[in-house]
Amino acid sequence: MNIIVTGGAGFIGSNFIFHMLKEHPDYRIVCLDALTYAGNLSTLEPVMSNPNFRFVKLDICDREGVYKLFEEEHPDMVVNFAAESHVDRSIENPEVFLNTNIIGTATLMDACRKYGIKRYHQVSTDEVYGDLPLDRPDLFFTEETPIHTSSPYSSSKAGADLLVLAYHRTYGLPVTISRCSNNYGPYHFPEKLIPLMIINCLHDKPLPVYGEGLNVRDWLYVEDHCRAIDLIIHNGRVGEVYNVGGHNEMKNIDIVKLICKALDKPESLITHVTDRKGHDMRYAIDPTKIHNELGWLPETKFADGIKKTIQWYLDNEDWWQPIISGEYQNYYEEMYGNR
Ligand code: NAD
Ligand code: DAU
Repeated sequence: MNIIVTGGAGFIGSNFIFHMLKEHPDYRIVCLDALTYAGNLSTLEPVMSNPNFRFVKLDICDREGVYKLFEEEHPDMVVNFAAESHVDRSIENPEVFLNTNIIGTATLMDACRKYGIKRYHQVSTDEVYGDLPLDRPDLFFTEETPIHTSSPYSSSKAGADLLVLAYHRTYGLPVTISRCSNNYGPYHFPEKLIPLMIINCLHDKPLPVYGEGLNVRDWLYVEDHCRAIDLIIHNGRVGEVYNVGGHNEMKNIDIVKLICKALDKPESLITHVTDRKGHDMRYAIDPTKIHNELGWLPETKFADGIKKTIQWYLDNEDWWQPIISGEYQNYYEEMYGNR
């Protein structure tokens, strides 16, 4: 089996590559990644010398480059993680989200049509369903929940999902889609809530909570997401969408307080800042379908996963220090300077 994994130098893609090389040591994994601000080649250092692994620096919108890679590799499957993934950046600059997340997805699928493929898997998000009200804890996103997006990011992901399903219906492309809730774990880029709060705590810097911090996210340890995708690409039904989430809903403010406690930092570091525009209130996944059809269940409890994650950031300053010392400083100043 030869699998092209796009966006494999990012957070979830790199964890997926480690998972696949461990669980399927006879598979060839080709990582295609443009190495944007969010891609980090040093993350893939541990597998660079693995003879079953190849890294190719390439933009998924580069049609010529993508076709050339398919001619060289004859992949059996493509798993598309490559995306612009940060909601706040999409609010500042939507265009790159439309290019990568929509045009890039179409380009990859055109290559799959041209050269043939056993499976194209689109890594999507629960954000395509919009949000749920805080006062209706009985409501969850199922695969039948209508698409109803809030941000340019989620709209671009929803656009890609619709294209993926259209390529299945129109051209018979063998596709699957997974829509997962918020991931956390090693190699999470410091712009996102959990690593940002851990790293700020370590520097005794203010912890910028948007609004009152009552928004709810449904957190899943990244390895559990990787296992779900592994199951879907092998056993999932073509043309189907699978929601992935572990019923682990938490308010942002509670996550931040928990991180303060774990690092023995005062809650007085918490600073309430101007809310995100269009901020989704609550995400909550109903994972019944993937559980019943594929037997998937999350394995890592949040209490254990967050401990492991905090420890990982304590042990791997070499990974995140170069990131926060570079261009990230300008981003941080623009995003939080006058907030
Ligand atoms: P990330 O931002 O950490 O990584 C994205 C990767 O894609 C980077 O390595 C980047 O270099 C690469 N990339 C960006 N544009 C590219 C392009 N044009 N061509 C090739 N490579 C490009 O993202 P992540 O958090 O790992 O998310 C991966 C996927 O999972 C995304 O599609 C995202 O929408 C989805 N997702 C994320 C979460 C989450 O909680 N992080 C949850 C559900 C779904
Ligand atoms: O639900 C899946 C989605 O989860 C993925 O599709 C996205 O790619 C991923 O980035 C994530 O989106 P969120 O917007 O939920 O994640 P983020 O870490 O940016 O924010 C989590 C919550 O924390 C959100 O309610 C906003 C809030 N927040 C975030 C940051 C960065 C703060 O209060 N302060 C912050 O500084």
